[in-house]
Amino acid sequence: MSYKGISDFRSDTVTRPTEEMKKAMYDAELGDDVLGDDPTVIRLQELAAEKLGKEAAIFVPSGTMGNTIAMKLAVGEGKAVLMEEKCHIFHFEAANISRIAGSLPRTLSSNRGEIPIELLKENIYTTLRDHIPETTAITLENTHNIWGGAILSLDYLKNVSELAKKNNLFMHLDGARVFNAAVAQKIDVKEITRYFDSIMFCLSKALSAPVGSILAGPKDFIKEARLIRKSLGGGMRQVGMLAAAGIVALDKMVHRLAEDHVRAKKLAEQIIDVPGIHVDLEEVETNFVMIETESMEAASFLEQLAEKKVWALPLSRDISRFVVHKDIDDGDIEQAARAIKEVMSR
Ligand SMILES: Cc1ncc(COP(=O)(O)O)c(C=O)c1O
Repeated sequence: MSYKGISDFRSDTVTRPTEEMKKAMYDAELGDDVLGDDPTVIRLQELAAEKLGKEAAIFVPSGTMGNTIAMKLAVGEGKAVLMEEKCHIFHFEAANISRIAGSLPRTLSSNRGEIPIELLKENIYTTLRDHIPETTAITLENTHNIWGGAILSLDYLKNVSELAKKNNLFMHLDGARVFNAAVAQKIDVKEITRYFDSIMFCLSKALSAPVGSILAGPKDFIKEARLIRKSLGGGMRQVGMLAAAGIVALDKMVHRLAEDHVRAKKLAEQIIDVPGIHVDLEEVETNFVMIETESMEAASFLEQLAEKKVWALPLSRDISRFVVHKDIDDGDIEQAARAIKEVMSR
């Protein structure tokens, strides 16, 4: 059961650190990470790089900062990056792609996060022209947030990466929840990350660390990333205290994501026949359940659920997003399903 008897499905960011994380934070060996000698941060960065199959990694305060640094380094000022039209970098990152990276986001439509290869091809401009920004990068999101935790297939990633190689484009992954994608597909995360030059993932979402994300990639890229992180105010000192929780997150919290996926399916199954709502079971691929309320606005639906101690967030006028995570147990699923049935029978 979540905090204070509330079943909190707003996001997997609400997860509280485990007891093991708190102990690791208390015991962490510390240094000054801006000076580069915090041993716990170094350990986390090495562990993350190894798990993703990349040369190096850097600990950053948030996923937004990780993506912003990647865009600034990979795309370049006045250049264009191809991205999916509902992606987080475009919608939810305070316009950093334009205000900090100085780049053009060329947004394209997709099938649940997968931009058709032909459409990507049509939007690659590599020969310099006066009036069309040169395309230098592609960024994808896996799992995809607005598309309800959708997974991008390995075949698709392979095809995009071949296209990128052919055209000398940098490939970045917004993998805030890439471990959910790997666990759901029962594969090592490297099977996904091998198709990308850089990857950002969040320790502070379903992996339950209190703060922090990782940006991984080639050694030189990460060396430059340290400079950009500092310029954005992301240089932190005895931050081994937070990195210690990140190490536990990576070592202990990945395999359990499968439980969240099972519970998300269970919630969807329990409400599938409730009149007035629409849930697509096949689209519950990871830890998100998207509920469309056909006859009620999401805001009103969620207000009534909140009275019954069930919290979630609206995604659009009639779609509510329920995210399952470590602090959601079977009791929360029952409580949510019951509350949804009661609200819809009023
Ligand atoms: C897909 C995706 N990318 C990036 C982020 C940004 O992470 P943060 O909230 O740590 O800045 C989020 C956060 O929800 C996300 O869902």
